[in-house]
Amino acid sequence: MSHLYRRRSSSGAGKGTCLATRDGLAARRDEPSGEEQVCHGASIIGLQARRSSPETRRALEDIASRVSIIATVHSYLQLSRHDGQIDVAEYVPGLCNSLKEALCGPRAISLTSRAVAAMLPPEKALSIGLIVNELVTNAVKYAFEEGRAGKVHVDLSRENSRFLLTVSDDGRGYSPAAEASLGTRLVTTFASQLVGSATWANGPNGGCVITVAFPV
Ligand SMILES: Nc1ncnc2c1ncn2[C@@H]1O[C@H](COP(=O)(O)OP(=O)(O)O)[C@@H](O)[C@H]1O
Ligand SMILES: [Mg+2]
Repeated sequence: MSHLYRRRSSSGAGKGTCLATRDGLAARRDEPSGEEQVCHGASIIGLQARRSSPETRRALEDIASRVSIIATVHSYLQLSRHDGQIDVAEYVPGLCNSLKEALCGPRAISLTSRAVAAMLPPEKALSIGLIVNELVTNAVKYAFEEGRAGKVHVDLSRENSRFLLTVSDDGRGYSPAAEASLGTRLVTTFASQLVGSATWANGPNGGCVITVAFPV
């Protein structure tokens, strides 16, 4: 499962488009699926972004990418063979591959991921996807100076009765002066939707480590 989601074309222009890879499912129906409708919404936002000032454009691209994550979860649900549950061992790496393609372009940033084998309901998968989107986007945007190589890792593990979702990088680390903006507030909100909490820290060798802990 890859390429379900694409934020920017390889030219870097923000298009906010989802890639419709539904393996023929859509072709068998006359009406657009929920996923396709969400994709259209993201595309419209992306088109508007291209006509906007740079600041508005960035804000609209961020919105389009958040909307696209919803389409990705829909897509996993449509293809789910697990009674409406989402297999996170497949979903998290799939999402990360799509994010890498959308965000990293030719930059020497590696984005790796690993997720424990677990079935989660779609609303939890959606919160996880939205958190990963915010934190990976931040790492690619802020952790590394232009041209510098870097590593970003997404890990979803289980520790007794809780899951730990960690996004870490080996970049410049958090400056205490960094101003928490909408992205940070969204991560906190999505973590509380998982009945969990998020913590931001710098790693032992520098770089940011953000951990979201939530109950099984
Ligand atoms: N991985 C990271 N490495 C270094 N700085 C970061 C990282 N993630 C976030 N930051 C800092 O934290 C700030 C707040 O992030 P966020 O709330 O997502 O807002 P935004 O992405 O809109 O700037 C960023 O502007 C940046 O200065
Ligand atoms: Mg952000």
